[in-house]
Amino acid sequence: MTERRELERRFDALKGANLKLDLTRGKPAAEQLDLADELDGYLGGDFRAEDGTDVRNYGGLRGLSEARDLGARLLEVAPEAVIAGGNASLTLMFFVLDAAMNTGLTGSRWRDAQPVKALCPVPGYDRHFVLAEALGMELVTVPMTDSGPDMDAVEELVATDNAVRCIWCVPKYSNPTGCIYSEDTVRRLAELPARHAPPQPGGQPFLVLWDNAYTVHDFDFPPPRLTPILPMAKAAGTADSIAMFASTSKITFAGGGVSFVGGGAGFLDAVEKRLSILMVGPDKLNQLRHARFLAGDRIEQHMRAHAEIVRPKFDAVERGLARGLGGTGLARWTRPRGGYFVSLDTPPGLATAVVALAAELGVALTPAGATFPYGRDPEDRNIRIAPTLATLDEVEAGIEVLTLCVKLAAARQADQR
Ligand SMILES: Cc1ncc(COP(=O)(O)O)c(C=O)c1O
Repeated sequence: MTERRELERRFDALKGANLKLDLTRGKPAAEQLDLADELDGYLGGDFRAEDGTDVRNYGGLRGLSEARDLGARLLEVAPEAVIAGGNASLTLMFFVLDAAMNTGLTGSRWRDAQPVKALCPVPGYDRHFVLAEALGMELVTVPMTDSGPDMDAVEELVATDNAVRCIWCVPKYSNPTGCIYSEDTVRRLAELPARHAPPQPGGQPFLVLWDNAYTVHDFDFPPPRLTPILPMAKAAGTADSIAMFASTSKITFAGGGVSFVGGGAGFLDAVEKRLSILMVGPDKLNQLRHARFLAGDRIEQHMRAHAEIVRPKFDAVERGLARGLGGTGLARWTRPRGGYFVSLDTPPGLATAVVALAAELGVALTPAGATFPYGRDPEDRNIRIAPTLATLDEVEAGIEVLTLCVKLAAARQADQR
């Protein structure tokens, strides 16, 4: 009881501190955005692309060739395997899934055979889950491991339930655990569409949704490498079932970058055909300035500069969590070497209470449950920490509050038993 009293005392004392801290969303800090300020006016009146295209005019559904080169470097595929799009990869994900569901992409549409299920590794990215749900899919959870989704569970579900049509993947610095999928996991995912039984005649049986949002968002150089999925998919005959996505949202300007979709030739043909209904062509001005700005080895230089800003914040999270919770047995957390998030697990039944306590002290955390389909964490234990937007001092203060709240919530729970 004395320990609880001490925690309550510290909690009450902090109430008077009038903190106002936000560790909720994975947005870049202004300092990171500053790194790309040169983009403004970068074309300097030179509107001709390499192939002579006047980028001020309509056309070019697959995107400019130099923008596709940029996408190819991010996705580690050949430029022919990429379409360069507009300002957000999430839009492309919606577009691809909507087409697969409602009109058919390379085959018949999914919605004719109800239910349609999407596999959601948890904890995962809330917007993926919301997107699939909005299109009328049922969300089925599978556990994440340190090397990616639990592939035994995934293969079992895909082989036995024909309603399962896709799986969400963030293969490098996964949102929110930060793990990098192992080579074995990548191979098994590449082969997954071939396991889907029985494939529908003429149907698009299955899509691996490969959202490589954090592909170059490393803290260490030379960076760890993700095994490329497309060569493995080609070997397995599944390339048209791999839908790859990336963007420069967290390289240059969030919401003002260039997005990419990649995959097998048949898949890309189908995406282009459908895109022609949506638009006359993408914003090639933005594509050209991005391609020029990030040409050559500029991406690595640029990401090193991001890392100088972001890495200290992640180090502060690690230090704060280790100091506040290390050895208590009250939490487990991830130590990513890139990306935007840290995932913290409390004992069962505490996450909602911890988030509410932190809010009382003026520290906004992502709502408990947000990393699970339908916003429901069945064990109520996962908390996503997003340290990029806050300053270093704010991150330190926020993590101190978080660790206090975990201990206080645990002490209150113990006293109720
Ligand atoms: C895994 C993942 N994919 C996609 C996005 C959004 O990307 P975009 O800005 O290209 O739509 C985010 C943003 O947080 C993300 O975490």
